[in-house]
Amino acid sequence: MRYKVTVVGGAGNVGATAGQRIAEADLADVVLLDMAGELATGKALDMMESAPVLGFNAHITGGSDYALTAGSDICVITAGLARKPGMSRDDLLAKNTDIVKDVVANLVKHSPNTTLIIVTNPLDAMCEVARRVSGFPRERILGMAGVLDAARMRYFIAAELNVSVEDVDAFVLGGHGDTMVPLPRYSTVNGIPLPQLLAHDRIEAINDRTRKGGIEIVNYYKTGSAYYAPAAAVFEMVGAILGDKHKILPCAVYLQGEYDLNGLFVGVPCLLGKNGMERVLQLELTADEKAELAKSAEAVRELVNALPAM
Ligand code: NAI
Ligand code: 2OP
Repeated sequence: MRYKVTVVGGAGNVGATAGQRIAEADLADVVLLDMAGELATGKALDMMESAPVLGFNAHITGGSDYALTAGSDICVITAGLARKPGMSRDDLLAKNTDIVKDVVANLVKHSPNTTLIIVTNPLDAMCEVARRVSGFPRERILGMAGVLDAARMRYFIAAELNVSVEDVDAFVLGGHGDTMVPLPRYSTVNGIPLPQLLAHDRIEAINDRTRKGGIEIVNYYKTGSAYYAPAAAVFEMVGAILGDKHKILPCAVYLQGEYDLNGLFVGVPCLLGKNGMERVLQLELTADEKAELAKSAEAVRELVNALPAM
């Protein structure tokens, strides 16, 4: 069976890179949908012309007509503005709300059973926009942020300890913003908890760099934000769902009482399988960790409260 994945914003940095990874791994046929339709068509053709060399069979198409997206198993939304130096993710709220509203309305018309993976920032608030517009159950609306934030933390830990990234696991919970909550107690190197390997001040430095991981790249790129690691994170989520892998990944999901949070998208560990988000995992948190998560959720709530009625 061939799966179909649409990436809206597919001519952009995150979208095109994610689409390329998905197709090259033969996970699914890919539609790059973008308001820049010709650019999307051209990128799709350019990628297809790499298929004979790389040896993948997935079909990639591109354009601006939502009819192309019909029957998608997963729709990834990267459409929207990206951050420039001096901008916070939250500055993007008003413009990206309008874009995500329009995109989701078009997608659900053509793929009513799809699973949505939201990437557009501010991430957690854009998930809420997608929920309101789609009316989908929470199992089929996921936000990509935790996989990226945890990947950054994993890389920083591996670099600090000079060990293989393959041995390092990490968890980052909360909203995708400065208040995100890195969890060193749940971060391990080949099973060894991080606090047994690194001094407190080094762990704090890693936590801080993780929280600022997005802006660190923005400050280098100047004209946009990170896309290689974000696209890899999208790829992992898509692969977990299409492969029914039951992988546990940190994702933004609409909480219904878990972690004492209700009616809000916040990053928590989720089990991903063919039905999308199949289970929220409850970690035991210390009082300090709980307080940090509550503060992060409050920052998300402030953004959601600033959304226009829809
Ligand atoms: P980009 O500017 O390279 O690409 C955005 C694409 O969206 C463009 O091709 C543009 O034509 C398209 N677009 C804009 N409005 C559209 C509409 N109404 N319909 C269809 N397409 C539309 O930006 P990039 O770097 O790909 O980032 C995209 C978004 O993802 C930004 O909001 C960025 O902040 C966010 N992001 C989120 C991350 C996360 O961890 N959640 C990580 C990286 C980026
Ligand atoms: C990031 O964390 C911009 O949210 C994006 O790189």
